Amino acid sequence: MSTARPGIPRHLAVIMDGNGRWAERRRRPRVIGHRAGARAVNVCIDFCLERGIEALTLFAFSSENWGRPEEEVGALMKLFLNALDREVDELDRRGVRVRFIGERERFSPAIRQRMEAAEAQTRANARLSLVIAASYGGRQDIAQAARALAAEVAAGRLRPEDIDEAAMGRCVALADLPPPDLFIRTGGDHRVSNFLLWQLAYTELWFTELLWPDMDAATLQRALDDYAGRERRFGLTSAQIAHGATENTSA
Ligand code: FPP
Repeated sequence: MSTARPGIPRHLAVIMDGNGRWAERRRRPRVIGHRAGARAVNVCIDFCLERGIEALTLFAFSSENWGRPEEEVGALMKLFLNALDREVDELDRRGVRVRFIGERERFSPAIRQRMEAAEAQTRANARLSLVIAASYGGRQDIAQAARALAAEVAAGRLRPEDIDEAAMGRCVALADLPPPDLFIRTGGDHRVSNFLLWQLAYTELWFTELLWPDMDAATLQRALDDYAGRERRFGLTSAQIAHGATENTSA
């Protein structure tokens, strides 16, 4: 990973909301919105590559989304499968490393096999880390980190008093990436919806009414311009930031 460039987030995290409404406004089935949403994913990847953003994490399917009507879940699974078949070679060619976070075991063997193949094929790429959160939940992520640390304690390799933020941070998803600098949510709702709860602690949040399938480079640029104008204080004062005390990004 390279170092930060002023005004450019190193890591962008996105909740792609509004596919269903986009389709309903056109009196089309919701799956048409998800298909259009998949095209917008490519717009977002292109944008990150052009701007030199190092990591992009997309919330593709939450652990709660399994409760949607069977037909919609089935259509989304088909879409994921097709996207994995269609896009991975091109992503690889462009230097994108692909990986998945979430409860992988809940997906079909066909999807799991393609996820693993995509990760293996693109493992050495370093231009952009593309993380797809699939059957992911932030609380579940924190719970699995707590389980991992409890197992370390039970095995006698860790003392309970050594469990601190850094230890937790090593066990949650995305531990090897810088935390998201900028979070974008489309679709008009102003909430985090159980996405990356631990990792978003000091992330700048940006919301738009735009529905995800309408996402374009101009809107992404507006988010970046807004981000570039913000002062990130990480719990410190403006004066401290002005004097370069930005090292403590976890406090
Ligand atoms: C939320 O919109 C979107 C989803 C639950 C699915 C996201 C999936 C994609 C963008 C398509 C493919 C993704 C990849 C990574 C290939 P919603 O259905 O909740 O919209 P609504 O709020 O308008 O109902």
